[in-house]
Amino acid sequence: MPNIDFDLTIGDIKIPNPLVLASIAGVTNSSFAISRSVGLAMLGGYNLDEATIAAAKELVKKGRSEFAYDEPMPVIKNELGVMKSTAIIAGVNARSTTLEPLIEIAELVHQKEGILELNAHCRQPEMEAVGAGQCLTQNPTKLSEWIYEIKQTDVPLSVKVRAGVVDDIELAKTIDKAGADAIHLDTMDFGPTLVKKIRDATTLKIIANNSVVDYNSAHKMFSKGADYVSIARAAMASDAVLQGILAEVKSYQEMVGWYNAPKHICAGGDLRGLTFCCMPVKDCPLHYVLKRAGITKEEYVRVKESFNGTKLSEGSNTCFGSMVWCCKITRPCPWRDSYLQDLSFSDVEYMQLKKQLAEALLSSRNLE
Ligand SMILES: Cc1cc2nc3c(=O)[nH]c(=O)nc-3n(C[C@H](O)[C@H](O)[C@H](O)COP(=O)(O)O)c2cc1C
Repeated sequence: MPNIDFDLTIGDIKIPNPLVLASIAGVTNSSFAISRSVGLAMLGGYNLDEATIAAAKELVKKGRSEFAYDEPMPVIKNELGVMKSTAIIAGVNARSTTLEPLIEIAELVHQKEGILELNAHCRQPEMEAVGAGQCLTQNPTKLSEWIYEIKQTDVPLSVKVRAGVVDDIELAKTIDKAGADAIHLDTMDFGPTLVKKIRDATTLKIIANNSVVDYNSAHKMFSKGADYVSIARAAMASDAVLQGILAEVKSYQEMVGWYNAPKHICAGGDLRGLTFCCMPVKDCPLHYVLKRAGITKEEYVRVKESFNGTKLSEGSNTCFGSMVWCCKITRPCPWRDSYLQDLSFSDVEYMQLKKQLAEALLSSRNLE
């Protein structure tokens, strides 16, 4: 299969494909990561300060695997060096009770062109007792300050969180406003529905996690707005699951040109699905969704028509006289398809223009 460009970045780092290896303490080091078919591997979680190192040692005594190094920085530096010679981008999942070691690691990760991941996710009582992991989400002021300070180093930053601990939408908005680049969302029992809510409420890149075990479960996350899916348990025994998902995602991207294309709005799609909606003339969910997004009908029409300078302007015999109003390529339509054929306008090119139109529509949202 040719090299497929997924057009993916976190901060200024290009990520080769939308599969992410999620951290598994004591397991996901560089030698494990390079044996897995992913674009980004979150190494760690590493414990950076005295309190988290001590907590990790307590966990080891209880039989849990941990990276409990007395001096984590040289180990992480070495791991980043190993990853640099591979095609996989390295992420560093880090726990700390204080900001200083996070700034130190951020500078190192930035220098090595990786991604830093602030761990606001771990829920072992030993970690929470010292103030690390998921309890960070219960202190939005501290979380915002840490994100802001870490971003002063210019490191691309993901924040790993677990759904259902606090108000997930407010949490995601806090992370977005503080300046993080991505949210790594362990969706727990809330699944793709929560991904959609966060896609609609923020500008964050979304790494969707939990129970992705095959292409079907990955596709559900993608079609609700995930930019990436991450996998931990299903990647432990072998690379087979990752290889299978990657092959299917590549093939979908090659055929359709938009591997995480949304569903239509009337089928429960996220706001990117507005790109496939008609003129606002019918009694349909479009009106309600525009209102929820804070986009006026006039603005919606203006953004759609701003694409009339592109090949989407063709299609005078389609329902509304141009393909800016046409639906997703996977929904058959003889009128649209006859124009695509006559113009030698490929399915991929059509969907990539629809993707650009979705991005323009999202920028006209009103995010308070
Ligand atoms: C044994 C084990 C260790 C884990 N260690 C970490 C960790 O250090 N940091 C972290 O952010 N998540 C950690 N996780 C959570 C996973 O990254 C992931 O969020 C969770 O397992 C759900 O994804 P899955 O359904 O693909 O396994 C760990 C999970 C397991 C099973």
